[in-house]
Amino acid sequence: FGGFKHLVIEQDGAALVVTVNRPEALNALSQSVVREFERLVTQLEMAGTDAKWPIRGVIITGGGEKSFVAGADIAEMNAMSPDQALAYGQSMQDVTLRMERLPLPVIAAVNGFALGGGCELAMACDFIYASERASFGQPEVNLGLVPGFGGSVRLQQRVGVGMARELIFTGRRIKADEALRIGLVNRLFGSVEAMLDAAKATIAEISEKSPTAIANAKSAMHSMIHLSVEEGLAEEARSFYQAFHTEDSVEGRTAFLEKRSPQWLGR
Ligand code: CAA
Repeated sequence: FGGFKHLVIEQDGAALVVTVNRPEALNALSQSVVREFERLVTQLEMAGTDAKWPIRGVIITGGGEKSFVAGADIAEMNAMSPDQALAYGQSMQDVTLRMERLPLPVIAAVNGFALGGGCELAMACDFIYASERASFGQPEVNLGLVPGFGGSVRLQQRVGVGMARELIFTGRRIKADEALRIGLVNRLFGSVEAMLDAAKATIAEISEKSPTAIANAKSAMHSMIHLSVEEGLAEEARSFYQAFHTEDSVEGRTAFLEKRSPQWLGR
């Protein structure tokens, strides 16, 4: 993970901590930050489910005191034609889709402003932790714009259609406790340090499980979210059947019955 300028990437136990670090622009997602995210997901896609790979989950957070990510880079967007803006939007949309398809869990650890593209980046993670100073919103309408990195779809999935439409139509910014109440955030912490420690502990907990089981669960849950209950049940049955073909599932059941800890193989 060398050669990144705006993403600070550090391994801590089983977690890869990725800090978006452009504090002078409140970590806004400039085109060069988007390109770094493209490189990062390409590298993470190569991880697969090999149980020997030391990284078992990713945490995304923001550098500096104030911000997770304050959105798309408004100054750069101001110089773009509509076609260039479309390409910019689609390149980050693509990053968010690829993040959802990674075999590893990704946690957003939101330490400050998560606005526009920042809220969208957080929602492309599997779940969101927040510190008390976090705030969330899709303020694009204030710029005469609409969400462009997946917010229109994912906010409706996360908080329901009514709440998502109210937030997008008003551009209102909500505090961390309200984000917790409406289900956008899983857990709220009194400090950034406590939040990051908890995110690392969650990844450590997940790293005790079979990597194939986690990858299967993530992939099935992401693909069924768009489905009807009937289609979702069929997808779940397919994934359940596939899980039964893995050596890890044999090991997991055997270890349970033999009252011992499982030795995962990652296949
Ligand atoms: N893009 C580029 N620069 C940004 C930025 C952004 N999204 N957000 C903040 N900055 C810059 C500011 O221009 C400022 O730079 P200078 O010091 O050079 O003037 C610096 O970061 C600090 O910002 P502020 O002085 O504004 O800090 P503040 O504490 O007074 O306000 C804020 C913080 C409320 C987050 C405010 O900065 C703000 O409203 N930012 C824009 C948020 C926004 O609208 N995001 C959505 C962008 S559109 C989008 O994301 C579209 C999409 O879906 C793809």
